[in-house]
Amino acid sequence: MCGIVGYVGKQKKAQEVLLEGLTNLEYRGYDSAGIAYVTNGKLVITKTEGKINNLKKIVIPCEANLGIGHTRWATNGKPNTINSHPHKQGKITIVHNGIIDNYAEIKEQLQKDGVTFKSETDTEVIAALLNQIYTKTQDINKSIVEFQKKVKGAYALGIIVDDDYNTLYAIRNESPLIVALGNDENYIASDVPAIIKYTNKYIELNNGDFAKITDSQIICYNALGKEIKKDIQEFPIESYDIDKHGYEHIMLKEIHEQPTVIKNTIGDYIDNNIDNLIAKMPDFSKYNKIIIVACGSAMHAGLVGKNMIEEFADIPVDVEIASEFRYKKVFIDNKTLVIGVSQSGETADTLKAIVKAKEKGADTLGIISKKGSSIARCVDFVLYTNSGIEVAVATTKAYSAQIALLSLIALNIANHKHNIDNKELEKILKSIKELPIQIERLLSNEACENYKNIAETLYTHNDIFFIGRGVDYALCMEGSLKLKEISYIHSEAYPAGELKHGTISLIEPGTPVVGVITDFEIADKTLSNIEETKSRGSENYLIITEELDNQYSKINKNYNTYNKVVIPNTHKLLQPLLAVVPLQMIAYETARFKGEEIDKPRNLAKSVTVE
Ligand code: M6R
Repeated sequence: MCGIVGYVGKQKKAQEVLLEGLTNLEYRGYDSAGIAYVTNGKLVITKTEGKINNLKKIVIPCEANLGIGHTRWATNGKPNTINSHPHKQGKITIVHNGIIDNYAEIKEQLQKDGVTFKSETDTEVIAALLNQIYTKTQDINKSIVEFQKKVKGAYALGIIVDDDYNTLYAIRNESPLIVALGNDENYIASDVPAIIKYTNKYIELNNGDFAKITDSQIICYNALGKEIKKDIQEFPIESYDIDKHGYEHIMLKEIHEQPTVIKNTIGDYIDNNIDNLIAKMPDFSKYNKIIIVACGSAMHAGLVGKNMIEEFADIPVDVEIASEFRYKKVFIDNKTLVIGVSQSGETADTLKAIVKAKEKGADTLGIISKKGSSIARCVDFVLYTNSGIEVAVATTKAYSAQIALLSLIALNIANHKHNIDNKELEKILKSIKELPIQIERLLSNEACENYKNIAETLYTHNDIFFIGRGVDYALCMEGSLKLKEISYIHSEAYPAGELKHGTISLIEPGTPVVGVITDFEIADKTLSNIEETKSRGSENYLIITEELDNQYSKINKNYNTYNKVVIPNTHKLLQPLLAVVPLQMIAYETARFKGEEIDKPRNLAKSVTVE
């Protein structure tokens, strides 16, 4: 949520580094953007509403050796030019990610002291606070220590002080921030894509740490102002590819990466041999109960995981929306495993839910895409997806990778508990091998034509229903969210059998109803529910397995009148990995027909680091 980049050095033009960095961070927020840079001994701030392209149009190119930049996802105050960052008060110019919880009190006090504000933001308030402290102490390090004692909340800050235009300051508390190292030049960034083009060496700031950064030196301090030694770490460059590679949208590229992502993610743990899986994961069968905490699509992946783990591993699983879990009574003991699922590993709600679970004595596990992220560091054990960086705001490949790992957890426990025999295990291993090719089939030209045809009808509607039972309902929730996020069409996911208890009143002639039917055991029931909507005039689309399609084609005349997407058969444990692909593609094509900005949908941001 929001992106920060900063540069100090003579090797490059600061403006170019900032604008390029912000472009690569734009997926984190894109309501407004701005940069502050020093040229000819003067500080210039240029900022504007809207996307980085708007900013690029108004920045006047010049030589600059130091600067900070920001792309915003509005929290306090509307997304307009005045509220966009950087904010300057006195000698302090700041860019900020996060939210200051006690900004109203601080603002009131500052106003009593005669400070006036131009914006509605908490950021301008903390700029004024730091300026006030600095005016008294005339020592920036002491001022930052004092400042951090007064400020409550989450923040990552990039700071320029008027008295020293050769130095950048960075402060981190709760919101991510790194200092990246170049040759005679250094950077700050809230996220790796901002700087990965230039360097993969970085220092990670912990909560409360701050850094003084010049082109030749980085000095880090803890919250008390004591100098601390930091290890230099390295990112694997290849996993930060943010190019479209010829695809019209990054989301489409990421959907097409799924065969490889699934192969890599599962391959990392199982490598065609169950013994590897057992060796690479702890024995989760010792737990009596599992709770999955997550948000949005990650929570939907958790719901799919619940079905898998309960069915194959015989352990009850609750799936909790992380923002709800944090503030409710929870039933946890030391036989409970709490799993946090998160692509970014930075989602504030999920992180706080994990912290609560730990406080209550649960063991915690993270299913995370981003190495070294806050949640990854907080949990007792991490399983990383091998999905690479995901850039499109609507998640696709990370969601699939999360499901893949949850299926492996189910398999791990089932194996420990001897719930599956060797024959069954062989079948699963064989099916895992086939998955990438089956996903490729679902993304073939012919299959994509079918998604386009469906989308061409869907995009003209205002309300769409996704219905299914069991794991298919969990998939419907993801299909519905994908559609809402990028096409802005209202849609609802509903358990197929529950529709008749009220919501069926919304079905009228022409209402699109997408039915997902992959679970053999309840397929007949779901199909009956779909026929109930058809009787009321709905326009129906089915996502159904080959086996069920064959069966119904032969015995049910009515069935052949449905628009269908037929998906390959696989082992039941893995079926969601195939069923989700058409749902993603239908959402994508529908948004494309509507001409929406697919990779950066309105009001959203890739990583949600506020509660
Ligand atoms: O980074 P996380 O996986 O923790 O993010 C959780 C949700 O914010 C995320 O899945 C969100 O729902 C996506 N926009 C879905 O496409």
